[in-house]
Amino acid sequence: MVDIDIDTTALGLIGYPLGHSISPLIHNYALDKLDLNYVYLPFEIEPDQLKEGIQGLRSLKIKGINVTIPYKNDVIPYLDDLDPLAEQIGAVNTINNHEGKLKGYNTDASGFKKMLKEDAGFSIKGKKALIIGAGGASRAVGEVLCQNKIQELHIINRTENKARQLAKKWRENYPAVEIGVKGIAENYYRSIMERMDLIVDTTPVGMAPETDVAPVLAADCFHSNLLVVDLVYNPPETTILRAAKKAGAQTLNGLTMLLYQAVDAFKLWTGKEPEVKDWYQLVLEKKGW
Ligand code: ATR
Repeated sequence: MVDIDIDTTALGLIGYPLGHSISPLIHNYALDKLDLNYVYLPFEIEPDQLKEGIQGLRSLKIKGINVTIPYKNDVIPYLDDLDPLAEQIGAVNTINNHEGKLKGYNTDASGFKKMLKEDAGFSIKGKKALIIGAGGASRAVGEVLCQNKIQELHIINRTENKARQLAKKWRENYPAVEIGVKGIAENYYRSIMERMDLIVDTTPVGMAPETDVAPVLAADCFHSNLLVVDLVYNPPETTILRAAKKAGAQTLNGLTMLLYQAVDAFKLWTGKEPEVKDWYQLVLEKKGW
């Protein structure tokens, strides 16, 4: 832990709830290791207090902020500026406070892309994918898949209208991608499952502390030619990943995506680059994952 003094700069994480997050653990470890006079704190903001919360960060001169569930879209109206990629995606997971001006970035997209390549050896071009959820994380995932020439992309969401809005945007921006959209309807996803290569669950279903819940997709719908990714990393094996593994599918949780997006955020705030392998070791030691 850094020695906090009058020159210490604060960084932090906003979201609701925050109990699942390991961002304070990894960022404070790297700040200490690189001997940087910063501290990274969790700021849980109640859903009706987001505007005041952001104003508070500004007033308190918090230098850098990560944004997690459920605020990646909702935070946008309260920022002063957006990086072009965050604007295109329509979601922000990192904020930089430069002399009182809050600028939003998206480092989830590059984190997701890197994870698919490095940790699953998955190449996107010409493949077929299903995304579950239509929030901020889903926006970044869909953008990466479309940009990298996925052939067919389906999105299903509890609130169908939110999925429809995203599908409309992707159809306009990427006319070559065949896009399907629906609420969470079992007959729909079962009808496309056989030809899918990739499933990405962007919902918090199964995230700690509520780990013992049924996955969004029926446990018997998976097959062995799939890569199934759950962006949840705590616990490391959620019920959807367990079901997919049982069917012989390749599975991946969201830990490395979290680490890759955190490297980019850390660089943005401090100009220094932490080592992913150190973080990996730390998480193994502290969490046993
Ligand atoms: P994030 O910014 O991290 O993506 P978000 O914007 O709150 O978080 O999005 C969470 C997504 O998970 C949403 O698509 C949400 O569905 P709704 O649009 O219907 O709210 C989905 N989600 C959250 N809890 C869920 C649950 N219990 N079952 C199914 N989907 C859920």
